[in-house]
Amino acid sequence: MAYAIAIDGPAGAGKSTIARILAKELGLIYVDTGALYRALGYYMLGQGIDPADEERIVPALEGLTVALTHQNGEQRVLVAGEDVTAHIRTPEISMAASRISAIPAVRAFLLQAQRDIAAVESVIMDGRDIGTTILPNARVKIFLTASSESRATRRYAELQEKGIHTTYEEVLSDMVKRDYEDSHRASSPLRQADDAILVDTSNDTLEQSVARLKAVVMDRLQQTEE
Ligand code: DC
Repeated sequence: MAYAIAIDGPAGAGKSTIARILAKELGLIYVDTGALYRALGYYMLGQGIDPADEERIVPALEGLTVALTHQNGEQRVLVAGEDVTAHIRTPEISMAASRISAIPAVRAFLLQAQRDIAAVESVIMDGRDIGTTILPNARVKIFLTASSESRATRRYAELQEKGIHTTYEEVLSDMVKRDYEDSHRASSPLRQADDAILVDTSNDTLEQSVARLKAVVMDRLQQTEE
């Protein structure tokens, strides 16, 4: 039987890095759901549509295809048949993704695609509403968080590494803004599920976070063994 591990939390808490490592260790497919919102944000900007413009976005979704595929263990995201994976990690697209993700029709549009992946494969899926909305029956639910400063420090280092020009202050203020918007939207806001385990990685190195999360996951898997 396929089972799911849901990891939700604010931007930069380490969800994707940790989930990717755990997926490899546990033999699960890693699904980064943020890529779906990013791909849609990228596509709409390319069409000259403001990612917050609900009136134009709703008709633009009609007939549009967004898909996640996996190649050599790496996730790719396609929108309207085009692989946009390489273009969706900029600060501009982060903000576009956050804006577009607040539109209820967008969330409804992406809901089934996410459930379909988890129906056929055992997954570790990261996002904002996986434990609350997408996979309420996930076997393990984790809410991963850290202080804004430590999240911004990590995200800044990541962007530096990719050669994306920005400042720490800019990253921090974008992050605080995005967290606020993601947590305060009416439709499936970022929220800890009642049965999710809270893990705060503020004072951890990556290795410590991975070890802690792995222990939590293994413990929960054992408790819920069928
Ligand atoms: O995880 P990420 O930073 O790639 O996500 C980008 C944006 O997409 C995030 O600010 C909010 C939105 N998102 C969402 O609303 N629900 C998800 N399951 C994943 C992402």
